[in-house]
Amino acid sequence: EDEGEKTLRSPICCIMGHVDTGKTKLLDCIRRTNVQEGEAGGITQQIGATYIPAENIRERTKELKADAVLNVPGLLVIDTPGHESFKNLRSRGSGLCDIAILVVDIMHGLEPQTIESLNLLRMRNTEFIVALNKVDRLYGWKTCKNAPIGKAMKLQSKDVQLEFEHRTTQIIIEFKEQGINTELYNKNKDRGETYSIVPTSAISGEGIPEMLLLLVQWAQKTMIEKLTYSSDIQCTVLEVKVIEGLGTTIDVVLVNGVLHEGDAIVVCGYQGRIHTTIRSLLTPHPMKELRVKGAYIHHKEIKAAQGIKITARNLEHAVAGTALYVVGPDDDVEEIKESVMDD
Ligand code: GTP
Ligand code: MG
Ligand code: NA
Repeated sequence: EDEGEKTLRSPICCIMGHVDTGKTKLLDCIRRTNVQEGEAGGITQQIGATYIPAENIRERTKELKADAVLNVPGLLVIDTPGHESFKNLRSRGSGLCDIAILVVDIMHGLEPQTIESLNLLRMRNTEFIVALNKVDRLYGWKTCKNAPIGKAMKLQSKDVQLEFEHRTTQIIIEFKEQGINTELYNKNKDRGETYSIVPTSAISGEGIPEMLLLLVQWAQKTMIEKLTYSSDIQCTVLEVKVIEGLGTTIDVVLVNGVLHEGDAIVVCGYQGRIHTTIRSLLTPHPMKELRVKGAYIHHKEIKAAQGIKITARNLEHAVAGTALYVVGPDDDVEEIKESVMDD
């Protein structure tokens, strides 16, 4: 590494959209997991986090021969629920992310929570791409498992291509009605002003290569400053959960900085601020979902960006959605405690 060259952290990518558009299934397809089928009623009810290392992205995009120079260590993906009652979780997820995937079902077009998600992203000026999902449901679709969508589309019959064009044109109009310019990724000459649409299937994997490549390339191209690693701790509590054998734990997203076992931390509690010490720092294995109980990796220390489960005493009344602070040796605990309750 060059002297003075800055290291980048992993971009945080939130996946948003109307209920049942296939957000979790898209992540399952990338991870080669089966999280969605284990969900009660097939409905996501929590925020999730999955770390995708750069080597997996490289592997998944190699057919595109983009020779993708990946300067980021990976991608941290945040799954959110699409059901209307979880607006607070969508807001929490979108508040954390650097970039987003807005998932639209090609058979349904824009739906109420698509528009709600769009407004959350707009409010914070968050960059996003549109995944136009469930292309395999176009009548007569020929499966090309995990292929680039560019290649898969060429192999479709004229009828499938016409139905695709018709539906995509309609959806571009629906976005236009919301004041948003969109265009298919391969026709989009005006990135930055016009958002890119990538057709995908979460079931057979077409379009996943382009979706991953576009996300990482766009993040690397436009967000270098934001993605430059900083040692100032920036950490948000996603969920507070009782886990058998571990007691009450918090799932956090560490956006910047390093956390260590034994760090003194302060988090916001319903009955006042909580001052405690990190007992253990746990992550799932790469490509596994944090919200699904599984084998955890124990870390002495861990660097951003990551989704982490923290065990510590006194977390019972911790408030999800608030910031976590680390008390350094020279910090004034009282001052930190005050800012905690401002959240
Ligand atoms: P919520 O998190 O509850 O908002 O839903 P979601 O957006 O995560 O959708 P989910 O992954 O739960 O998928 C909803 C349903 O659509 C499931 O039955 C999936 O199998 C199905 N599905 C998702 N993606 C695709 C796809 O690309 N093609 C087809 N045919 N079905 C899909
Ligand atoms: Mg889901
Ligand atoms: Na669902």
